[in-house]
Amino acid sequence: MSAAIIKEVKTAFIQKFKKEPLLVFSPGRINIIGEHTDYNGGFVFPAAVDKGIAAAVEKSNTGSCTAIALNLDSTVEFELDKLRPSKEGSWENYVFGVVAEIQNRNKIIGDFNIIFKGNIPGGAGMSSSAALENSVVFGLNELFNLGLTKTEMILISQKAEHNYVGVKCGIMDQYASMFGVKNNALLLDCKTIEAIPFEIDFKDHELMLINTNVKHSLSDSAYNDRRSACESIAELLNIETLREATEEDLEGIIDKVTPENYQKGLYVIQEIERTQKAAKAIKENDLEKLGALIYSSHNGLQHQYKVSCDELDFLVDQAKKNKHVLGARMMGGGFGGCTINLIAKSESKAFADSASKAYKNKFNTPCSVYFVALSEGTHLVK
Ligand code: GLA
Repeated sequence: MSAAIIKEVKTAFIQKFKKEPLLVFSPGRINIIGEHTDYNGGFVFPAAVDKGIAAAVEKSNTGSCTAIALNLDSTVEFELDKLRPSKEGSWENYVFGVVAEIQNRNKIIGDFNIIFKGNIPGGAGMSSSAALENSVVFGLNELFNLGLTKTEMILISQKAEHNYVGVKCGIMDQYASMFGVKNNALLLDCKTIEAIPFEIDFKDHELMLINTNVKHSLSDSAYNDRRSACESIAELLNIETLREATEEDLEGIIDKVTPENYQKGLYVIQEIERTQKAAKAIKENDLEKLGALIYSSHNGLQHQYKVSCDELDFLVDQAKKNKHVLGARMMGGGFGGCTINLIAKSESKAFADSASKAYKNKFNTPCSVYFVALSEGTHLVK
């Protein structure tokens, strides 16, 4: 599936720059459970998928750099010593941000050209942005022999997002995209940035994504607001992150926080616990239990953390009405994007059809259904 975009960026590169490029594929991710816990030092449970970004990159000898986003048919030229963030929302900030963060680490890179294309729809909540950042840092590391470890690379990608894109994201997306393992999900401890791979074979059940195809504006500022709310609670508790907190600790400062923030803190503490329970359920092959945890994750995201939206809630409600769906929830930052559904394989087609029809009826716009294969992380394509 991704072979097609790899071929496209290669052909486009040779046509434009008359050179064989280095080819990198960097995947997007799903997340089984553990949402908005990464920047709280908690656990997440993502997996890299077989959709993502293909990038063709090579050195340039023209005295400047060119980056081309094939999907958007958009080209930018830039000089390495004159980098600054472009206007908010521009795709080139992902590229510029990575370059700037590499330079901040006193690593020397030369001019380069890059052409990339993705097959994850933007706004799907599947981290096309982390996939892009990782493809750039991975390609440049290879091209200029920077000697960066994968962990250094994902920290660079994350900083690019903080400083150039303006989203104070956690480490989940970059980690999953870089370190993905075929057929596995990763129980990632975001405090130590270390993960345990779990082979995912749900036998007669599978994971299915339904994209609302909406991304509500202000989602970035809402994201940053959630993060600062969590940080302010942690500060009141005199701890580094909410990972260190218990429900009793939170109870102890109930008069010092607004009821809204109390719920947000509670959600985070509970979601970190749910994620660990989900790992246990997967190990024990207890899919009913896993499904129930996934539903309560959504419940928390909707009512306590308040990062869901009508479209996502509608799709989760559709799932709840179907006994073959063991669990469903919004996935990623929220305010749009996909739901992830744990469903009986024999029923997934029927549910996809009925949920799509109901969605179209309700919102007068289509949703999209995806099945993904869990795949290896960012890599060179030979
Ligand atoms: C976005 C961020 C991640 C994570 C999720 C929510 O995808 O990039 O770091 O916080 O939202 O779990």
